[in-house]
Amino acid sequence: MQTPMSIEVAVADGRLSSLDSDWVFIPVGEREPTEPIGDVDAATGGELSRAMASGEFEGKDYQLFVTPVTNSEWRSRRVALVGAGSAADFGPDRLRRLAAVAGLAARDRKVTRLAFVSRQPSAPSSARLPRSAQVALAQAIAEGVMFATFDAASYKTEDHDLWHPQQFVVSLPGVDSETRHEASEAVRQGVVLAECMNLARELANEPGNRLRPRAFADRAAHLVSRAGLGVEVLDEGQIAAMGMGLLLGVARGSEEPPRLLVIRYDPQNPPSPPVLGLVGKGVTFDTGGLSIKSSEGLERMKDDMAGGAAVVGALCAISRLRAPIRVIGVVPIAENMPSGHAIRPGDVLKSASGKTVEVLDTDAEGRLILADALWYARQQGATHVVDIATLTAACTIALGQAVSGLFGRPQKWADAVRAVADSTGDRVWPMPLFDDYLELLRSDIADLKNVGGKPAGAITAAMFLAEFAGDGPWAHLDIAGTAWNEEAKEYLPKGPTGVGVKTLARLAFAALG
Ligand code: BES
Ligand code: MN
Ligand code: ZN
Repeated sequence: MQTPMSIEVAVADGRLSSLDSDWVFIPVGEREPTEPIGDVDAATGGELSRAMASGEFEGKDYQLFVTPVTNSEWRSRRVALVGAGSAADFGPDRLRRLAAVAGLAARDRKVTRLAFVSRQPSAPSSARLPRSAQVALAQAIAEGVMFATFDAASYKTEDHDLWHPQQFVVSLPGVDSETRHEASEAVRQGVVLAECMNLARELANEPGNRLRPRAFADRAAHLVSRAGLGVEVLDEGQIAAMGMGLLLGVARGSEEPPRLLVIRYDPQNPPSPPVLGLVGKGVTFDTGGLSIKSSEGLERMKDDMAGGAAVVGALCAISRLRAPIRVIGVVPIAENMPSGHAIRPGDVLKSASGKTVEVLDTDAEGRLILADALWYARQQGATHVVDIATLTAACTIALGQAVSGLFGRPQKWADAVRAVADSTGDRVWPMPLFDDYLELLRSDIADLKNVGGKPAGAITAAMFLAEFAGDGPWAHLDIAGTAWNEEAKEYLPKGPTGVGVKTLARLAFAALG
């Protein structure tokens, strides 16, 4: 497990020559004239303009060009240009990715002292951004670089070097001292958010045999208490005493009992309301149960607790960044297995809320455990609730891997969650919740059935949750497509993405209305 590391993080203004790093990363746009980055060209003996003239470096998205500094007045040893692509749509999201490319390159080359220059490619140097935009860019850079410190290969016994930057500087050329001051704080927050994303990624990356329900609950409890949060792990007896038949039912097929992880953040003198409730799906492995999945790609189902991990990561960030409001995190944890004890298709279970559910498909288990957890979050006083879950393959069919599905009501709350998500780089897109869809969940024998058939699979799953989410504001993020990156990208390695951590954490700083 990742240990807290000592890293020197700084924000620098002034001239690039005074940066004292091993590598100085500089974003450079496509067909950008070299003149605005002129002193870099000179410092590298004209390598920049030469590489751009020859086509060796074109500034295309995520290209990397590293060249030695020849000017002895510079304190850094190498300049690394990162292709920033076209100048259109440039902003924090792009810069975060460029910084992640830089971090991953540094990791690859075992460079531990790095600087990243915040600049707008192709913008005339006189074009000064407003302070808030400068600050947002600085934070995005910190998030991107620190994102690269995640170690996916923790079970390799050979050729496995842990890398961690020792020194990391965000350079903001030509900004005033007030901006620099604000940017320092933003960079600190960016580092915390990225660390907490990486913590969620670590949990989601754990194999199913290493992170079964009790281990997940215990490890999460350890992490959050280390971050200064209150935590309770409710066992099967306590879960049964509360009547959580859905969570118990899903867990029945496994040799491991379920757990309900409850995390509390209680700042001093919080306003009341609101109380933010964060609920995350914690299925440590999803075989489908007796409605068993096919074996193809089944190993991926070790990350079916990515939503729960995001809640754990977000609460760590909320505590470390000292959010102003109360937050409660609830993670229902179970392993979905087939066995002689498992629930059968057609079984009827009773939820903690009292509603009965006919389980027609034991593979639609996420909504079952979340239903009891949503009820619990409300019962504990959450006024504004967001749940996050690798809930439906249908969501991936609808939106692909780039965007999470966002559901919620009232509209104002869904909009608020969307605005926060947009500001963090977690991409979400709104999906509808019309009462018509509820018809699809009518059961012949119970209050609800747990599946609504093929059409609108992501929506009927959300409609099911809505039946248990109470009357207050509630939103649901379906991260089935976004929690795991199937194919390595320049800025995002294969594996867990940490999606949702920043959105959930930032919500605790937003006006909830
Ligand atoms: N954990 C899965 C959803 C999932 C699938 C996430 C693939 C990530 C990748 C969930 O529990 C599930 O099995 N959902 C079913 C629901 C169906 C039975 C109504 C699905 O999407 O097929
Ligand atoms: Mn399932
Ligand atoms: Zn599942």
